[in-house]
Parts: sequence; structure tokens; C-alpha cells
Amino acid sequence: MKRIGILGLGKYLPEKVLTNAELEKMVDTSDEWILTRTGIKERRIAGQGQAASDLATKAARQALKEAGLKPTEVDMIIVATITGDMQFPATACFVQANLGAKNAFCFDISAACAGFIYGLVTAQQFITQGECNYALVIGSEVLSTVTDWQDRSTCVLFGDGAGAVVLGEVKSGGILSSYLGCDGTKTGLLNLPGGGSRNPTSQKTVEQRMHYIKMQGNELFKIAVMSMAEAAQIALKRAGLKCADVQWIIPHQANLRIIDAVAKRLGFVNAKVYVNIERYGNMSSASTAIALVEAVQEGLVKKGDIVLLDAFGAGLVWGAVIMEW
Ligand code: ACO
Repeated sequence: MKRIGILGLGKYLPEKVLTNAELEKMVDTSDEWILTRTGIKERRIAGQGQAASDLATKAARQALKEAGLKPTEVDMIIVATITGDMQFPATACFVQANLGAKNAFCFDISAACAGFIYGLVTAQQFITQGECNYALVIGSEVLSTVTDWQDRSTCVLFGDGAGAVVLGEVKSGGILSSYLGCDGTKTGLLNLPGGGSRNPTSQKTVEQRMHYIKMQGNELFKIAVMSMAEAAQIALKRAGLKCADVQWIIPHQANLRIIDAVAKRLGFVNAKVYVNIERYGNMSSASTAIALVEAVQEGLVKKGDIVLLDAFGAGLVWGAVIMEW
């Protein structure tokens, strides 16, 4: 059985920082509410005209450099995103052109905040089957473009960014197990209703602000905790490991209280939890990717460590990956 692991990592965060203090001037909120309810202090906002593929390309270039690969050596590009450049073509196609990765086949994955994990597992299958040798998996979001800046219940939560990894065969370690889940009966809890074939863009959809994220955060909170805990438990079981074997939990960064509740529910004793939500907010598919990149680049994750990636998002979808670093 081939071992598939990460050969290079990269990230890109837009320069513009939007603080809680600035949000206080835009909607009826407070730094105190945002910090205590979510753990977020500030988030990044993409520049005018910066699309998901622009962020993804910058992150991908770093990951390729670290992996020591030329763009033409990449066989597959997967971009996990819910804020792609356009309805079609896939954002991955724009990234391919930007990189000059002309030998890669390309597609997007729409699995919201679990998108990076869905992407990793998908790429792993292609490499294991021998369909390709090197895959770029990128989580990239410009959520600021679909955020309703008049809705205080959502606009304080989200940010923009991209994280990328190169996946390929490794001699030791790599992905040990994974688990992906979905409950399609709860699509109503978190969605962007306008602009698709259900509600094509019209004056009415724009007037009703249907081109922005709609979320029932409170309902989602409990499901997020349960689903992430369950995904972690199943992935651990599949790897033949226990919670005590894990050194690093790298969760999706939607809410610090969700992260704490998941770790508590799992009864993690030895593991450390990587958190960067205070700097970036929730960047959907990019959150888990950037958290992994930073945990490694900061020298926290050491060779041989068991790492758990765990995420939950709109769909509802969730998933976990266990890796040996
Ligand atoms: N500032 C001040 N008050 C606010 C704000 C704000 N920004 N937002 C909401 N409130 C108020 C509400 O109006 C409510 O007031 P009321 O009691 O007078 O009605 C009160 O605060 C409590 O609101 P809740 O929604 O119950 O607050 P909660 O503690 O649940 O926190 C939050 C909200 C942060 C959204 C939380 O529920 C959450 O994180 N949910 C999970 C989100 C998630 O995981 N989403 C999936 C991933 S995202 C993706 O896939 C794209």
C-alpha cells in the first residue's frame, strides 16, 4: 500500500486587516461580544478585484517551492472553495493557468469548511490508484464578497485566505486514515440561496440580499461539536489509534468555543490544539489548510507526531484525517 503524505505547504493571507473595533463602527456589535462568543480579534480582507484563484495561486507557489516541484510536474489541482472566481469554470482551472501547470487536470470541491479535508482524501485516492503522482490541494476563500456587512450575526465571523499543500508518495508516515460525513437534510441551516439554479439572480434576489451567507449559528453550534467529535473518533478507530496517541489537533476554526468543546468531548489529554482564529476568523475551506501550514511552519508539529485534522461546514458536511508527520 502506497503511503501518501504532504511534500510542501504554502499559505496566503491578504494584507488588509479588519479589526473588531472597526466592525463596531459598521454594525451593532462589540469587541467584547465577538471575542467572548467566538475567539476572533481580527480577520483579513482581500483587496478589490482579488479572487479566490489569486489567493490560491500565491499559496500554491509556496507549496510547490517547498516540495521542490515545477508547476509542470503537478498532475492534479483541486481547489476547495465556496467563493470561486465564477459559477464556472472551476477555480482550479484559473490556478492551473496562473501556475503554468499545463499537465494537471483540475476541478473544484464544494464542501464548505470541510472542503480541504474532502480535497485531501480525494487526492489521496487518485495518487493511491496511480492516476497521478503529485497533487495540489488548495483551500481558498474570499468570503468577504458573500458576507452581508449589515448582518451582525454573520459579518463578524468570516475572513479571506488560502492554504495549499502538495500531496505525493512518502517513504514513512503520511495519511493513516480518514472519515467523511454528510447530512443533506440540514442544508437550510447554512447556505447562500441566491444566484444558483434554484434562485437565479434577479432584482428580487438582490433586494432580498439572497447573494449573501445565511446562517443559523446557534443550531449549527451543537451539530458542529457532535459531528467533529464523531469524525475524529471514527478516523482514529480506522487508524487503530486512541485519543492519547494524538500530539496535535488541527481543527476548523469557526469558533473557539466549538474547538474547546470538541477537544473536551473527545477527552484529549496529551494533545495540543492549534488555534489561529483570533487572527483570521473563519475562512471556511482555507481555515484548516492555513492552520496546518502555520502549525508546521512554526515548528510545532514534529516528525513522527500524530496529527488530527477535523472540520465541519455547510451541507452539512464534516470530516477528519489522521496523519503521521
Ligand atoms: N454582536 C452582538 N450581539 C450579537 C451578535 C454580534 N455580532 N451576533 C448575534 N448577537 C446577539 C443575538 O442577536 C442574540 O441576541 P438575543 O439573545 O437578544 O436574541 C445573542 O447575541 C445570542 O445570539 P446567538 O446566535 O445565540 O449566539 P451564539 O452564542 O450561538 O453565537 C455564533 C453565535 C458565534 C454564530 C455561534 O452560534 C457559532 O459559532 N455557530 C457555529 C457556526 C459554524 O460552525 N458554522 C459552520 C461553519 S461555517 C461554513 O461552513 C461557511
